[in-house]
This record gives sequence, C-alpha cells and structure tokens, in this order.
Amino acid sequence: MNKCTGKIVQNVRFKIHGDERGKLVAIQAKLDIPFEVKRVYYIFGNIPGVRRGFHAHKSLKQILICVSGSCEIFTDDGTQKNETLLNDPSIGLLIEGPIWREMHDFSPNSVLIVLASEYYDESDYIRDYNKFVEYISRK
Ligand code: TYD
Repeated sequence: MNKCTGKIVQNVRFKIHGDERGKLVAIQAKLDIPFEVKRVYYIFGNIPGVRRGFHAHKSLKQILICVSGSCEIFTDDGTQKNETLLNDPSIGLLIEGPIWREMHDFSPNSVLIVLASEYYDESDYIRDYNKFVEYISRK
C-alpha cells in the first residue's frame, strides 16, 4: 500500500454475500468506493505476454477488479514502484491521482473490470513516461 498527498494506490476489499448458491459482490458508488462511477470498461481476450496501460491520468479515479483469473498491476507514483497481484473478485485496486500504471501477466480468460470516475477523455492521459515525471515534479 502506498499513500501520499493526491496520489493513492490502495486495495479495497468488498463484502462477499455468499450462500450455498455461490457468491455475490455489490459495489455502490460513494459507499463502497470513494467516487461516482461514470464509466465502466473491461479488458478481456488477453494475449499471453502482453503488457498494456503505459499511462497515467491527471485526475481520473479508478478501481480495477480482476473478476476472473488474475493479472498484475504495476504502479509508479514517481517515487515508489509497486506490483499488485489481482486474483480475487472481492478486491479492487484504487488508483487516484497521477500514477503511472501498466497491466501485465494476464492469465488465460482473465477479465479486468475498471470503474472510472469520469467519461473517457484523452486530454486526461499522460502517455509518455518522461512527461509523467515532468508533470509530477511540477505538482
Ligand atoms: P488504451 O488506452 O490503449 O487501453 P490500455 O490503457 O488498456 O492500454 O485503449 C484502447 C482503445 O480503447 C483506444 O482506442 C481507446 C479506447 N477506449 C475508449 O474508447 N474508451 C475507454 O473508456 C477506454 C479506456 C479506451
């Protein structure tokens, strides 16, 4: 876990409603996660060995949940680099603030769901690592 002003990378554990039929997780905006959800996308059909992401966001907040299979999330806040294994549908990775991220080691048939605080906006992306370092050094 890594916390510093304006930059957060943190695991969030969701309650599992389980019974003899199986399990269910419900995620409510502003109750179970700290933002309203404006967008949901998911990454699937992953090709072995592929690494993706390679960007930071200026202000977007996101929760990443690997609802099937597993994957690794590399994060870098400019000072601290972390690898987080996501392999539990009841755990999300909250990423807030300008954090460089790369997703990799997707298991076959893995599905990574992302809940995002804003609509898709290319101007919120920083896709060049050197520009990311420059951006956070100005903050
Ligand atoms: P991309 O940003 O390359 O994905 P990743 O961060 O996983 O490497 O996005 C792939 C394509 O999907 C790209 O053409 C942009 C588009 N896209 C949307 O249209 N809406 C979205 O919400 C996202 C995340 C991507």
